[in-house]
Amino acid sequence: MASGASGTQSQIRWEGHRRAFEEYLHGLRFTEEERLVGLEEAMRYSMLAGGKRVRPALCMETAWIFGADPSHVLPSAAAIELIHTYSLIHDDLPAMDDDDYRRGRPTAHKKFGEAMAILAGDAFFGEALTLITVHQKGSPEQVLEVVRELADSTGVNGMVGGQVMDMDQTGVGEVTDPETLYMIHKYKTGALIKSSARIGALLAGASREEQAAVSEYASELGLCFQIVDDVLNATSTSEELGKSAGSDAEQGKATFVGVFGLDGAKWEADGAVKRALAALSRVDGDTSGLQELAYFVRHRES
Ligand code: IPE
Ligand code: IPE
Ligand code: MG
Ligand code: MG
Repeated sequence: MASGASGTQSQIRWEGHRRAFEEYLHGLRFTEEERLVGLEEAMRYSMLAGGKRVRPALCMETAWIFGADPSHVLPSAAAIELIHTYSLIHDDLPAMDDDDYRRGRPTAHKKFGEAMAILAGDAFFGEALTLITVHQKGSPEQVLEVVRELADSTGVNGMVGGQVMDMDQTGVGEVTDPETLYMIHKYKTGALIKSSARIGALLAGASREEQAAVSEYASELGLCFQIVDDVLNATSTSEELGKSAGSDAEQGKATFVGVFGLDGAKWEADGAVKRALAALSRVDGDTSGLQELAYFVRHRES
């Protein structure tokens, strides 16, 4: 997000989250076994390639709103980003979207081969659980709830289920019914974004009501995020995105642009932002950063 010493308080805070997170991620090592250096190299290649870090920053900002030091949630924020990175590696595989370019670099399977890319993705999931169960401070109940939250949002009724529905509709995307389209986006992308906020809130000790309001915000934010991903795929270049542009239409993916048209998709994204901001008004705290994030997600260019 835009930031700098002359920015608003929330922009300065976002920049702080981003820097602290990047430093934490760079410090992560997964093995001292020399036979596994290649696996670690493949994991670090994808995880340190850049990326907007929207999910971990959302987790940190939400924790801050409810009174925690953002650094408190770093292990869980990193776990979320590792799972997100795994999902991108697998999403790019020939069996799925078959993309050669991600985060401004050749995709993991292009660089390390398919088997290593699959295994690097798998390893991220295990390492994410280690980060939470070994390194996340908090009561045993809170840590268990973080695990439960991530399991829910990434399993059959979350990210992976969404990816399956996305694959089911590939090739026939233009005729996907709106209800299925909403469902795909909420599951494949919305669920993990929603969890990012929920985890920040629960680790900061927010009440159930506060968690519910933040969840509703982040669920709409996640929907908007994927609608804008569809818009950018149709309107930007691969250089601007750091990943393949134009691929959704080529592959007949179920997208908001395909089903509602470009203007219709933008209108749907605006609607999601409005609903996100309405949910935020129920949160008793400084939500200026989350309001700013909603505008960033809606108007991002990559
Ligand atoms: C891309 O996510 C895949 C989707 C779920 C839309 P991001 O746009 O957050 O990707 P990075 O992390 O910035 O590379
Ligand atoms: C990716 O969705 C969703 C997940 C990885 C869970 P897309 O396939 O639409 O995203 P990009 O455009 O490749 O980043
Ligand atoms: Mg995909
Ligand atoms: Mg893809």
